[in-house]
Amino acid sequence: MIRIALPKGRNLEAAIAAFRAAGIALDGAGGNGRTNGRSLIWRLPDEGIEVLSLKDWDLPLYVGHGIADCGIVGSDVLEEVDGDLLVPVRLLAGRSRMSLIGRESALPAAGTQVRLATKYPNTARRIVAGRAWGAEIMTLSGSIELAPALHLAELALDIVQTGRTLAENHLVEIETVAEVAACLVVNRASYQRHRARLNDWIGRLEAAGVVS
Ligand code: PRP
Repeated sequence: MIRIALPKGRNLEAAIAAFRAAGIALDGAGGNGRTNGRSLIWRLPDEGIEVLSLKDWDLPLYVGHGIADCGIVGSDVLEEVDGDLLVPVRLLAGRSRMSLIGRESALPAAGTQVRLATKYPNTARRIVAGRAWGAEIMTLSGSIELAPALHLAELALDIVQTGRTLAENHLVEIETVAEVAACLVVNRASYQRHRARLNDWIGRLEAAGVVS
C-alpha cells in the first residue's frame, strides 16, 4: 500500500491531473469522486493506494514523517517550512510566481523601514535581507492583498497567478522574486521502499510532458 497526500488548496486540480497522467485516477471510478466529498482518507484497494486530503501547509509534515509516502505541494510552502523531502519533479500546470506587491510600482527608498505583510515570514526575511531598505514582517494567514490596499502595510509578499486579485484591489507587482510550482514530494525512506512504482509514475509524468 502506498499513501498519497493530496493538497486541498490551489494545487488540487493540478495534482489530480498529474496522477491521471501517471496512470492513476484518484477522482475516477476507483476514488468514487471523493476528492469532492468530505472524506479525509480513502482507499483505492485495486491500485494498492490510500489517499489523504490535507491542508497544503500540513502536507510536508505528513510526508516528512512518512505518514504519507508522497504528495503534491507548492514550492512556496516547501520554501517556507523545514523538511528534508525528495522533490523529483515540478508540475508545469498551475505555475505562478511569488512577488513583492504594493500600491505603487517602486520599491522602498534606501534607508527606509516599511511593513511587509505575508503568509511566508521565513521567505520574506530571506528576501529582505541585504536590501537597502528594511521591513517589519507582519504574518497574516490569508487575503494578504488587503494589507497594502488598506495601508496596514506598505508591501506584501504573495502569490500572483493571473494578476486578477492585484488588479481588483488596485495593487501592482513590484518585483518577481521566485517562480512557484506544484512539486511532487517523496519521503526518503518511502522512495527506497516503493522505488519501482514511484519511478514508473515519474517516468510517465515525464513522458506525458507535464513536469520539468
Ligand atoms: C493566492 C494569492 C492571491 C491569489 C492570486 O491566494 O494569495 O490572493 O491567489 O491569484 P491571481 O493572481 O490569479 O488573482 P490563494 O488562492 O492561494 O488563497 P489565500 O487566500 O489562502 O491566499
